[in-house]
Amino acid sequence: PESITVQELANRMAARQGEVIKALMKMGVMATVTQTIDADTAELVVEEFGHRVRRVAESDVEIGIEGVEDKEEDLRSRPPVVTVMGHVDHGKTSLLDALRTTDVATGEAGGITQHIGAYQVTLASGAKITFIDTPGHEAFTAMRARGASMTDVVVLVVAADDGVMPQTAEAIKHAKAANAPIIVAINKIDKPGANPDRVRQDLLSHEIVVESMGGDVQDVEVSALKKTNLDKLEEAILLQAEILDLKANPDRPAEGAVIEGRLDRGRGAVSTVLVQKGTLRKGDIVVAGAEWGRVRALVDDRNRQLSEALPSTPVEVLGIGGVPEAGSSFVVVENENRAREISEFRQRKIKEHTAAGQTAARGTLDQMLA
Ligand code: GTP
Ligand code: MG
Repeated sequence: PESITVQELANRMAARQGEVIKALMKMGVMATVTQTIDADTAELVVEEFGHRVRRVAESDVEIGIEGVEDKEEDLRSRPPVVTVMGHVDHGKTSLLDALRTTDVATGEAGGITQHIGAYQVTLASGAKITFIDTPGHEAFTAMRARGASMTDVVVLVVAADDGVMPQTAEAIKHAKAANAPIIVAINKIDKPGANPDRVRQDLLSHEIVVESMGGDVQDVEVSALKKTNLDKLEEAILLQAEILDLKANPDRPAEGAVIEGRLDRGRGAVSTVLVQKGTLRKGDIVVAGAEWGRVRALVDDRNRQLSEALPSTPVEVLGIGGVPEAGSSFVVVENENRAREISEFRQRKIKEHTAAGQTAARGTLDQMLA
């Protein structure tokens, strides 16, 4: 067929209709389950889901269901990906900075680090935790809207001297909507006016019941300033990760999400990505958002060149032709032609979308997310 309904497409891939609609939204296509989409669009969706497409005739898309989901036996444990959220000035950045110093290697190297929007710490036990340093809730929401939820666990920072504030409540809403379990970090306990119990009490009215009050949300009293209880917070994260049983197949072409992108004088377009599945390697051909390129270098948060990046690893990618939008997905494809095709298609969709009038589309998107 030259076209296919969203419903039929979902059925053939054994995917959820909502996931297909989300994938379409990522490409700038707004469609309901009963609507028909063209063969080109369908093919891209199918690719996004990791399936193979066979074109029987020029305009025909035949969906091969080989390589559907990763097989259970191919899955390996992966580190948790953590986003720190909370009210302004409650200490998100300070806590991220403090946690970073707990990395065994960073300690040795004397802390020569660079800001790449995300980093991974390796604890003395060998366990790893990935932290995403989102500039704000907007990025988190944008990623979720595009179906690219990259967070396994939300660490909610609440200052013990200030208590639950409007953005704390916002963060709780985002975490709940994304289905990400929350760990409460009650920060600034070194301060004279600190009242951790009031924080626990306040959280009740937002349906966050911490363990000490009979609930199942872990809470840890910390001081980012004095570096108090950072190990306890990390233990809490690892315990949560164990419960979530986080796994990915490292032996497949990489897929993931763009955390941020920028133009660097000298290095060109630099994208920080989070590998979510598979292994990203130097030389791979990637499509990120509407941009594509061959991976020229992979650089970690300590400015070291890597030859490959495993699932849950945040890494800077050099070699992509332009700056992809934060929150868009990236995927490794077989060859340059395929990459060019997908990127051209997405560029076209973005243009069409813009031409069609953003206000109307925005309205629809907002309604769909409401
Ligand atoms: P925004 O990014 O502006 O939302 O703030 P933030 O949540 O990242 O807070 P930030 O880490 O910038 O900290 C805000 C202020 O609180 C700074 O002056 C920090 O030094 C201070 N602060 C952070 N953590 C602690 C702590 O544990 N104890 C004390 N006493 N001060 C802290
Ligand atoms: Mg900050």
